[in-house]
Amino acid sequence: MCGIVGYIGQKEAYPIVLKGLKRLEYRGYDSTGVAIIQEGNLQVHKKKGKVAELEEAVVGKNMHSHICIGHTRWATHGEPSDRNAHPHLSNNGRLAMLHNGIIENYAQIKKELLSKGYTFKSDTDTEVLLNFIQDIQDNNKSTLEEALRIALKRIVGAYCILLIDQDDPETIIAARKGSPLVIGIGKGEHFLASDASPIIEYTKEVVYVNDYEIAIVKADELILKNLGNEKQTPFIQKLDMELAAIEKGGYDHFMLKEIFEQPDTIFDCLRGRLLHDQHQIVMAGVDNHIDALTNASRIMIVACGTSWHAGLVAEYMIEELCRIPVEVEYASEFRYRNPVIHPGDVIIAISQSGETADTLVALESAKEKGAFIFGVVNAVGSSIARLSHAGAYTHAGPEIGVASTKAFTGQLAVLSMMALKMAKAKGSISDERYVHLVNELASVPEKVKEILTDTSKIESIAQQYKGASDFLYLGRGYNFPIALEGALKLKEITYIHAEGYPAAEMKHGPIALVDENLPVVFVATKDMYYEKVVSNIQEIKARKGQVIAVATVGDTVLPTMSDNIMFVPEIDEVFAPLLSVIPLQLLSYYVGIYKGIDVDKPRNLAKSVTVE
Ligand code: AGP
Ligand code: GLU
Repeated sequence: MCGIVGYIGQKEAYPIVLKGLKRLEYRGYDSTGVAIIQEGNLQVHKKKGKVAELEEAVVGKNMHSHICIGHTRWATHGEPSDRNAHPHLSNNGRLAMLHNGIIENYAQIKKELLSKGYTFKSDTDTEVLLNFIQDIQDNNKSTLEEALRIALKRIVGAYCILLIDQDDPETIIAARKGSPLVIGIGKGEHFLASDASPIIEYTKEVVYVNDYEIAIVKADELILKNLGNEKQTPFIQKLDMELAAIEKGGYDHFMLKEIFEQPDTIFDCLRGRLLHDQHQIVMAGVDNHIDALTNASRIMIVACGTSWHAGLVAEYMIEELCRIPVEVEYASEFRYRNPVIHPGDVIIAISQSGETADTLVALESAKEKGAFIFGVVNAVGSSIARLSHAGAYTHAGPEIGVASTKAFTGQLAVLSMMALKMAKAKGSISDERYVHLVNELASVPEKVKEILTDTSKIESIAQQYKGASDFLYLGRGYNFPIALEGALKLKEITYIHAEGYPAAEMKHGPIALVDENLPVVFVATKDMYYEKVVSNIQEIKARKGQVIAVATVGDTVLPTMSDNIMFVPEIDEVFAPLLSVIPLQLLSYYVGIYKGIDVDKPRNLAKSVTVE
């Protein structure tokens, strides 16, 4: 995790870096720090807390410099504090470095350095790597670049680092493995960042640095090398992103903006792909590999968190429509339990950021074993997108709020189209059902818009239950993953304990929790399980639980049995998740707001989890 920004050029560097850090703050906000060089003097300013706190702390200080590197931290080694904040200084005081990732063998290296007399001001793995570089440079009398190369060959772990040397104020040295790095190319200036959002207002020409590459960045020169010291040709890409997409546009929070963007983002995702007049679905990534996908004896889906929930929905869709067995795996477990993978096995990787380390390493090892990787990714050009053999972007635009909302519905939209397309190619659904489902899917953006036209009921439910200490979320079939997602969203941004369960499974244990203080959210739209879910609601009511139902417009039964109800328009049950998740996103948002929580940056979380 963590956000990294760097600038070198003719302009004032600190304000550019500060603004960039604000854009990247969603990636981590345990501490903030910057390093600049002023007339041969290295200056580091850092502070526990969010970017605004650093900004305040340096008011009145001379921040004038044409070179600056900055960091917002998501702590892995050492508590969030001033002294653990990045950038760190080397023992000789000449080098400043910041880092995104984890150095796994730092303890061994630290021991070696301690025995040589090195001292450490922080508990971080980062400071160890930095002094290791200094040590190599001093011993070998080598250049900084050489010392870095040697150090990187010895370390195990993931990193994106920016390094500056007070004796060379014209250069930022960067390197990556596992954690992202984008370099923006301006006129006589360069920008470095963890993603493109701090860069787009200055230039649209960018280079995505690859793993095991070192970048030597000067105002008017960019040199890329591999760890073998061979020059690499930078591949310059044009950013397809507008500044407005990463600004709040009148909303109080990014999360609310992103929830309300969903009619448009889902529409954008379907646009040009779901040609519903012609009953056709065009997706190049799927078209080009349709045999690999439809002939698969099983499909594995690998993801984390909310993206994993999208995977569960896809499991229901693909098994029902394509009759292909699907296994949905937590990426973190998949990688380390030595799964059975045969060449040609199909893996669908789902990720908003495209940088989640657990997912990335799981895919790397599956790819080595010969699996075919299909990426469903939101962040264009991200590591998972590049690692995949084929894929389909979700086109939800940058998602800044830590809680995933529009990316999730984008994932569902892509996976829905894939399932339909594969079912058609395989002949596993009737033409009639296919046409019906294509039309239903095309109706989703309008129906989401309908849900969003009046949120007052959801706000009042949030107000009523904001004091609860636990919530239970229940659903069956396609709505079971939505119960899980509703519970995750609530935990993330309200800090209320919540559990999601299959509604029928509740009686095998969690029902013991039910009393008059427990709000139970039933995702109970009209589908094949409806009658059974109604019985489950009775079971909760009989034990005096508070029932909040997500129901289909026109339902006259649930209002008589529920304490509160949130309606969504009618839709075929296959696509119910795309609608039923919306009120649950809003419920979490409003509870979070009523509790005074910074919903865009809830505690302990980070948007992009680039550590394992
Ligand atoms: C979602 O609200 C979470 N913040 C989190 O679970 C997230 O979905 C997970 O970390 C996976 O991220 P990715 O989609 O970027 O891979
Ligand atoms: N491992 C480093 C630390 O704990 C970097 C964490 C990050 O990516 O922000 O400070």
